[in-house]
Amino acid sequence: MLNLVEEMVKAEHGIAAWDDVIDTSLASGIYTSLGTYPDDELTMVVASVAELTGVSESTVRLEAGRQGMPTLARRYPEFFLRHTDVVSFLLTLNSVVHAEVQKFDPEADRLLFDYRPLEGGGLDLLYTSERGLCDLAEGLMIGAVAHYGRGEQVTHPECMRRGDPCCVLRVLRVLRLGPP
Ligand code: HEM
Repeated sequence: MLNLVEEMVKAEHGIAAWDDVIDTSLASGIYTSLGTYPDDELTMVVASVAELTGVSESTVRLEAGRQGMPTLARRYPEFFLRHTDVVSFLLTLNSVVHAEVQKFDPEADRLLFDYRPLEGGGLDLLYTSERGLCDLAEGLMIGAVAHYGRGEQVTHPECMRRGDPCCVLRVLRVLRLGPP
């Protein structure tokens, strides 16, 4: 996920901007090592990108996901090719995509979404990870919708950052009038 942020910054702002991000992150890394708050590399890098570009951290996470999805689709086509629509792809995140990913890093916490099918063929993904990367997930879902090209709508009606017990990431099929 850090790589997706790196690629986005380099593509939009150039390699020098990424060097600035790393310099700024290292500075805050020293601050963090004083033990005032728990943090990780991704959090620090997102904060530096937000500072350098003047957008919110939430937007940085969302855009990294949205713009990064074509890279993931190119790098791991096997996860995408077996589906023709985004809901069917999303339903394999737990059982296939993140399960495979974890084989390379067995120590990593496995991300598990709960699923709630919706009337009309839509789907809710319920996200409760303590990493708080719901905006990244939302961006990845927007990117996945674009990948399959059917124009579903992605919303984020409930959010732990706003005090809800979990994040609800919703995909709704769009009613098409006229020929398919
Ligand atoms: C719409 C589709 C996807 C969503 C919503 C999604 C969501 C997420 C989120 C939110 C995380 C952070 C972990 C956490 O919050 O606990 C994560 C981690 C990860 N995902 Fe996905 N993901 C998607 C597709 C993919 C695909 C296609 C790959 C391809 C291999 C992938 C690979 C990874 C990896 C390697 C990590 C761990 C890396 C890290 O923590 O830096 N994901 N995913």
